[in-house]
Amino acid sequence: MLSFSEVRTIATSLAIRGTTSLLADAGDLVCAIDSGRYQGNPYPLYERIRAAGPVYRGLSGTYALTSHAAISAALRDPRLRVRKTSGRLAGASTNALADTFLSMDEPDHGRLRRIAAPAFRPKLMRQMRAGIEATTHRLVDRLNDEFDLMTDFAAPLPIAVISDLLGIPEADRTRFAHYGQIVGRAFDGLGNRGLVREYQAAVADLRNLFTRLMNERRTNPGEDVISALVQAEDLTADELIATCRLLLLAGFETTVNLIGNAVVLFDSHRDQWDLLKGQPNLAPRAVEEVLRFESPVPALLRHPHEPFEIGGRVVPVDGDLVVLLAAANRDPEVFTEPHRFDITREDAVEHLAFGGGAHYCLGAPLSRLEGDVALRTLAEQLPGLRLTGAPLRRKSTVVRGYLHVPVTK
Ligand code: HEM
Repeated sequence: MLSFSEVRTIATSLAIRGTTSLLADAGDLVCAIDSGRYQGNPYPLYERIRAAGPVYRGLSGTYALTSHAAISAALRDPRLRVRKTSGRLAGASTNALADTFLSMDEPDHGRLRRIAAPAFRPKLMRQMRAGIEATTHRLVDRLNDEFDLMTDFAAPLPIAVISDLLGIPEADRTRFAHYGQIVGRAFDGLGNRGLVREYQAAVADLRNLFTRLMNERRTNPGEDVISALVQAEDLTADELIATCRLLLLAGFETTVNLIGNAVVLFDSHRDQWDLLKGQPNLAPRAVEEVLRFESPVPALLRHPHEPFEIGGRVVPVDGDLVVLLAAANRDPEVFTEPHRFDITREDAVEHLAFGGGAHYCLGAPLSRLEGDVALRTLAEQLPGLRLTGAPLRRKSTVVRGYLHVPVTK
């Protein structure tokens, strides 16, 4: 027998999918993105939205921005918030990050972000480099001639890094990774009872694991983020657990796609791979270009708390405003030949793949570091890396990446 909340979660997920599909059929371009039909190549769709003017309004009443300048300004505009004026968060029932500071507005957002921010200080990031290199080399040494880039390399690397950062004991790491993957899968929708149950059980198990670690670190603190967070006075136990879950999921679900997207792009742009192999020091620039060209987080949603005038239209209070980061990253006003993948591009770093304003990605320095080490190591140690079959794209409109990428050394 299903509980009421399980029924509601499944019904919401199915109803949203059905309505989105109908509106996409009727010509709503934002719903067309959400329908997943253009997942292989959404970029022509973004160009149609861009051609419709500075602010697109779909049949559903959802507004969308594509321009780099408009999106940069919108993300910094205090009138635009993550939650509606009622405090409601869109899709909260299937959002594992609903109770985290990513999904909060001021003042709670700033208070919690300030507590977590010291973990990502540039100096600490530099200290992590040697450990990330050691993990990367260990993973590469273990690879068979043929392997799945995602399960054997792109996923285990950020999982190991975030486990180190949080100080997850060796004995708990497999469990931790397993829960993280189940909870992260909720980003792709929870369309059946099995998935809802699995998700709820994983959230509960994670809570137990974090609670145990918090209690241990209170009496026996270490150098890790959980030890730092338990010492913060202005933080409840629930907030602490939610912050750990946010770091876990943000650490798991994004950098994995940066690495996967990079390898698939290099496979179809061999001249760029040859460049990187010849000059591994281009790795940091390659990371920026991959983030620009195939942004792992393609869009964000905001709601005006005051009527928001832009491009001759007014987005009403509590309206849905989608900011298409992936479209901004191919804005011809900013990037010359935006649809060309070019790791020598000097201005790729202007991309908005990490968002902007108050919610700018806290983990950006860490994922840049992981991406640099990963791409450099692959180019130096696996120069013959090639796809052996079609990569399997992840069916998600929240994160852009692959589930499986079969490759050979
Ligand atoms: C390629 C990798 C990554 C990408 C593309 C990415 C992208 C983003 C984006 C677009 C946002 C803004 C969300 C919004 O404004 O609503 C964000 C926020 C955030 N990211 Fe990342 N991220 C990445 C890696 C990471 C990593 C490795 C971590 C930490 C382990 C992390 C932690 C966070 C946190 C804590 C926030 C919330 C910031 C806030 O609300 O103040 N991210 N990320």
